[in-house]
Amino acid sequence: MTKERILVTGGTGYIGSHTVVELQNAGYPVVIIDNLSNSNRDVIDGIERITGIRPDFVEGDCTDLPVLAKLFTDYPDIKGIINFAASKAVGESMHKPILYYRNNLNTLLNLLDLMGPNGVKGIVFSSSCTVYGEPDENPVTEKAPIKKATSPYGNTKQISEEIITDVINAGAPFKSVILRYFNPVGAHPSAEIGELPNGVPQNLIPYLTQTAIGIRKELSVFGNDYNTPDGSCIRDYINVVDLAKAHVIAVERMLENKSDKKIEIFNLGTGNGVSVLELIRVFEEATGVKVPHKIVDRRAGDIEKVWADPKFANEVLGWTADSSLADTMRSAWAWQCKLRERGIM
Ligand code: NAD
Ligand code: UFG
Repeated sequence: MTKERILVTGGTGYIGSHTVVELQNAGYPVVIIDNLSNSNRDVIDGIERITGIRPDFVEGDCTDLPVLAKLFTDYPDIKGIINFAASKAVGESMHKPILYYRNNLNTLLNLLDLMGPNGVKGIVFSSSCTVYGEPDENPVTEKAPIKKATSPYGNTKQISEEIITDVINAGAPFKSVILRYFNPVGAHPSAEIGELPNGVPQNLIPYLTQTAIGIRKELSVFGNDYNTPDGSCIRDYINVVDLAKAHVIAVERMLENKSDKKIEIFNLGTGNGVSVLELIRVFEEATGVKVPHKIVDRRAGDIEKVWADPKFANEVLGWTADSSLADTMRSAWAWQCKLRERGIM
């Protein structure tokens, strides 16, 4: 049976590109829209090398309503949307709040506005565990209270969830699955696609792999005086391919009406909390490569510990994040080595 077309906004980005691969592997025709503000068009080649299929690609900005409207006219067969398009640097959002609110919220509003008239059945939205702030209890379930956002970026995720809820409760003729990601890491096992941050990485894994390959002198571990067993912060690091697969299940659920609920929210994590120092050790053991590192002061705004209770997603979606952390670290390293081989980093 031919599957229905999915629009993937931000599909040349890190999580989007891995999701396009899984959608195409599952037989979904895809059209990507991306303004290439944080990615580049070579990613399309990587997707084609992995899947043998070149996804349709539109270079365009989702905040531009006429551009999006034309896309729906050109692709009247779009039945589902996965919305990855957003600005995502927490620190930058503190200095450029208008950019973050405008980009992240206008993108979502435009999509929601066009879905009904164009017969789209559902939208998967990329949210984040940042909505839980510093949780009172770990692991965190979907019922944990939403805490006041500590950055404009985090606030755009909270507001976006509220917008989707309001629009659907007002009777919109479509469904939504909101996915709250914990910390996505790693790369496709082929090393054809992966994370490629602009400039100096802010996130742990790209900084770590760039240090391991010698681009950075040493990794700074932000604090060893937290209330955790080794004093460093704890996160739930989820393999990006596992994460991508959850999106295919979510899309299927909406398009095939597998749930009678109009809005569903799932935590996507492994259920394992891992400290920064543990992660460095896992990387070193998995790859045999040393990561020079030093302990420095805490980073402002960091959460001490957060990890997911993924039971709801496990049970309802029939999905688990089952890649081992060692394999995930090897994939991140293979990707870093591929970037070096290609002369990119
Ligand atoms: P990314 O920056 O790699 O991908 C986002 C893509 O969207 C980029 O290719 C960018 O060029 C594009 N884009 C941005 N604004 C656009 C616009 N107005 N129109 C068209 N394209 C636009 O980020 P990612 O890590 O793949 O994140 C994807 C989504 O998941 C984002 O919504 C992000 O907030 C969310 N998320 C990411 C993480 C994480 O740690 N990576 C965690 C939780 C949630
Ligand atoms: N860390 C270091 N050194 C670094 C970078 C990070 O010690 O050079 C530590 C941080 O202090 C933190 C952990 O590594 O304890 C993870 O930090 P990241 O910056 O990789 O990730 P965060 O948990 O801070 O936040 C990320 C994204 C957010 C997203 C969140 C949850 O940046 O956008 O995961 O998905 F919302």
